[in-house]
Amino acid sequence: MSLLPKIDPTTTKAWQALQVHYEATKDIHIKNLFAEDANRGDDFGMFWNDFFVDISKNRITAQTRDLLLQLAEEVHLKQAITAQFQGEKINETENRAVLHTALRDFSTMKPEVTACLQKMQEFSDKVSNGNYKGATGKAIDTLVNIGIGGSHLGPEMVYEALASYRKGIQLHFISNIDGDAVQETLRAVNPETTLFVIVSKSFTTNETLVNAAFVKQWFVDKLSAKAVEKHFIAVSANREEVASFGISEEKTFPMWDWVGGRFSLWSAAGLSVCCAIGYKNFEALLQGAYEMDQHFATAPFQENIPVTLGLLSVWYNNFYNCETEAVIPYCQALHKLVPYLQQAIMESNGKTTDRNNKKITYQTGTIVWGATGTNAQHAFFQLLHQGSKLIPSDFICFTNPLGDATKNHEILMANCLAQTEALAKGKVQDAAMPYSAFSGNKPSTSVFIKSLTPKNLGSLIAMYEHKIFVQGIVWNIFSYDQWGVQLGKEVASAILQNEPLLHGKNAMQFYRKLKKYD
Ligand code: F6P
Repeated sequence: MSLLPKIDPTTTKAWQALQVHYEATKDIHIKNLFAEDANRGDDFGMFWNDFFVDISKNRITAQTRDLLLQLAEEVHLKQAITAQFQGEKINETENRAVLHTALRDFSTMKPEVTACLQKMQEFSDKVSNGNYKGATGKAIDTLVNIGIGGSHLGPEMVYEALASYRKGIQLHFISNIDGDAVQETLRAVNPETTLFVIVSKSFTTNETLVNAAFVKQWFVDKLSAKAVEKHFIAVSANREEVASFGISEEKTFPMWDWVGGRFSLWSAAGLSVCCAIGYKNFEALLQGAYEMDQHFATAPFQENIPVTLGLLSVWYNNFYNCETEAVIPYCQALHKLVPYLQQAIMESNGKTTDRNNKKITYQTGTIVWGATGTNAQHAFFQLLHQGSKLIPSDFICFTNPLGDATKNHEILMANCLAQTEALAKGKVQDAAMPYSAFSGNKPSTSVFIKSLTPKNLGSLIAMYEHKIFVQGIVWNIFSYDQWGVQLGKEVASAILQNEPLLHGKNAMQFYRKLKKYD
């Protein structure tokens, strides 16, 4: 049985029509689209919960939207969404279901998810109330999350984003195999009051295992081998390896093969964040994601935010041949959102083999980059405004600040609005100063959200997760495997076994050569 549709999008009628439509509309200026349609702002805006998503400043007409929706029909997006939510094994190359949505499905929660959340609640309450004592009887005030990729980026992003909701537990993250970075982190923590949470779905990831072993040795040297039991916790699907590392069942939280690493934030992979912000806030994060799931699964496509964003991305990627997309949150707390999205988006959709095992003939995964505004305005906005590349950008902002710095917030918001306005409108050229010309017509999507609450953050993250799904379905690729990261791991291990590099020398010979430059 075919689990997902396997339609080459370029063979659809909508794709052909979009190509013709692109040729006919590619030079239309966004400024003129507004001039011709007084209702454009309303027609191309979507209200949902605390969100308002404004796509009016894109290079699209009503017909573009209709054709993109037709494309979604022709590639059977609806059927694909149903297959995902029903837990079909849509990750065919790994024979796995893709059910991160089940981690926050409050309508029919799997018993193992309920049990895990309960264990997380009890544990995080105990830690944040000061009732979890370390080996020397002191309360815990710090957690160090040891993990990489999905076992790091999501928790760190949420920890930073919800800084205002922290309850007094500090987090550190050890991800890179870079030993200097590991030691730098260890210098900042007190072993007596620190818990080390080793997060690895597979418990085979080299960086995580090497770092965990290093940290364990450091800890034993500082306290004792006996103290390890109280200070090391694991989150993993691989109980055997966890046990052989020396962590008991009681101190192990589960992960499941039906949750991909880069979508695992909602599982016990988020344990350290849960301890830092408290269980209630963690649950609100899940609730926000759940509501976005409901919206994605049930809203008609023309009002469906993730569907719209995914299709827009296809429009720019495959018809305008844009290679990158920028994400610019006007919110310093979201400064880790882009690295998080880079893994989620690029590990998912960076593929060139389609679902029929054929080599793809069109562009797939976009390159995602960005930084927070207004900082980014003083860094790369020059290129957005006057560079030769067309870069569709998402502007994310919160209409209310969390604190009382209202003046700052007004200026922050004004800057966000000003940038999308300037990018779209441009400025007529002064003949004497051609370099000061702004052509405008640079597309952007604005995501306005009432305030940065745990719930709204959950919805925002889920919005991007589902956008990734929509793109992958249209591009006819498997978004949930990551074979592309395997080769580098194999080569690194061969290098450690002294295999020669391309230039014929092995690593040691190469280092020795480099040493001569000292
Ligand atoms: O980079 C490959 C990858 O498998 C990611 O998908 C994953 O998030 C990361 O490694 C870490 O994996 P694990 O949680 O199994 O250590």
